[in-house]
Amino acid sequence: MHTSWKENTVSTQFNAYNDMLEDILGFRYLFAVLDSDPTIHTILDYGCGPGKVAERIANQHQRYQVIAVDESENMLKIATDQRAHPQINYQLIHNNQLDFLESDSIDCAVNCFVIINNSSVDHIRHMLTEIYRVLKPGKPLLVLDSNPDATGYEFTTFRNGEKGKKYTDGDRKQQFLKIPESSDLILNDFYWSKHFYEEMLEQAGFDSIQIMEPCIDDISVSKLRQYEEQYDHSKWGDEQYQAPFVIYKAIKSA
Ligand SMILES: C[S@@+](CC[C@H](N)C(=O)[O-])C[C@H]1O[C@@H](n2cnc3c(N)ncnc32)[C@H](O)[C@@H]1O
Repeated sequence: MHTSWKENTVSTQFNAYNDMLEDILGFRYLFAVLDSDPTIHTILDYGCGPGKVAERIANQHQRYQVIAVDESENMLKIATDQRAHPQINYQLIHNNQLDFLESDSIDCAVNCFVIINNSSVDHIRHMLTEIYRVLKPGKPLLVLDSNPDATGYEFTTFRNGEKGKKYTDGDRKQQFLKIPESSDLILNDFYWSKHFYEEMLEQAGFDSIQIMEPCIDDISVSKLRQYEEQYDHSKWGDEQYQAPFVIYKAIKSA
């Protein structure tokens, strides 16, 4: 069984989730890549959900125009109700089709916590091939997902899978998100190994594939103090030494 992103309760609970770790150890690394290339203007946020990433990107810089797409109407309703922004264009998509976008037209694509939701290899391949089509040659796709090598660790805001369980590609894997003043939101995700991500990206045509796996210990003391103040949090869980996420940077060949 997949997570029903089209269900209201799932969308509402996911919106209430504190994505502090995703921000500190995920999104900020994506934003650094965006900021490093002043020719990046148009950004595709594929699987934007309630718009938390799209909104952060738009607020990073005035030059960014974000096309934020999702297949869940509920998620897009939350996004447009709560995170409408003049630099974001939210769009409903079906069957991974980005027909409204021309080939070679996008400066960068981000794909955050989307691949783990998909159980079908063909579906994932189609998604990445469509993203490849719309990207300009030489431009990056950034994929951020739960770290397949971090199953069972107790992170401050979530746990990814069962401790001690051995997963193979395509296996069901539950993700337990801690929701303030509520029971855990259990997401029915799928396990995909790092090898699988690399193979899928290569098959779609991407090259120069790089991986990042940051943890709290990698952050400078001054920066960490800044985050601790921002989130009013200083007691770190396993994210102190184990990277909760993987980030892939892959380039469309020029
Ligand atoms: C875990 S949420 C992540 C939302 C957002 N990227 C974030 O990081 O906050 C996953 C989102 O991906 C969407 N999604 C999953 N598979 C998709 C697909 N094949 N096409 C479009 N959207 C998809 C779901 O509807 C859901 O809104």
